[in-house]
Amino acid sequence: MSLHDTPAAYGAVSRLNHWIGAALIIVMLGIGLYFHEMPRGDELRYWMGLHVSIGALAFLPLAFRVLWRVQAASPQPLPQKPWLQRTSQVTHALLLGLIAVMIVSGPLTVWSGGRPIEVFGWLAVPSPMGRQEGLHEALEVVHGVGSRLLLLTVILHVLAAAWHALIERNRAAMARMLGAPAR
Ligand code: HEM
Ligand code: HEM
Repeated sequence: MSLHDTPAAYGAVSRLNHWIGAALIIVMLGIGLYFHEMPRGDELRYWMGLHVSIGALAFLPLAFRVLWRVQAASPQPLPQKPWLQRTSQVTHALLLGLIAVMIVSGPLTVWSGGRPIEVFGWLAVPSPMGRQEGLHEALEVVHGVGSRLLLLTVILHVLAAAWHALIERNRAAMARMLGAPAR
């Protein structure tokens, strides 16, 4: 079994990247959307701290995931109507682009607020920029809007995967992302 992608199949690295990345994104979206309307206080501090700690640890695997996909030619699109092929390519590019926006805007939101990035209390990476009010507010908007676009794109992507696998009963896409032979 190849580590690298081939024209017909995702390699092991891409598949691992996909499923680890999917789990991290779902956890990060879930926690972010859970705390986003909480009033200031200990509970908000706890959930935001958890989001920042997991986000800091997720940064490298997610950055690697995006860069790996950019440098590796993806397998050929699966045969389907040209507009669906195009939609799927655009959706995948949007997912990757939005992951990049989120992992860059998240840490910069913390740093431009003049705070260190704290990782479960073991490590604190101090802000290299100090508090920058205007930039901080702009980054909060980028991170907030990015998260909603990412949520919508993930929903579209998961519905499309479920549609192919369960309604059309075409297992080819799922099989190649799971590394199983297509039936
Ligand atoms: C948990 C539910 C998910 C399922 C069932 C699922 C399923 C799939 C499948 C079957 C493919 C292969 C499509 C093809 O061969 O053309 C794929 C590709 C892809 N998925 Fe997902 N996916 C899920 C979650 C996510 C999430 C949360 C993200 C990112 C936010 C994501 C990002 C991508 C990307 C970027 C691709 C293109 C190939 C790559 O770069 O990995 N997926 N997904
Ligand atoms: C990995 C992908 C990420 C996703 C999907 C994500 C998602 C979210 C969501 C949904 C919110 C709530 C937005 C709102 O208030 O409307 C949020 C807020 C926040 N995120 Fe993330 N995030 C990610 C990465 C990160 C990273 C890596 C960090 C920092 C290390 C971070 C730091 C923050 C902070 C500080 C807030 C609060 C912003 C504010 O005060 O409005 N995020 N994130």
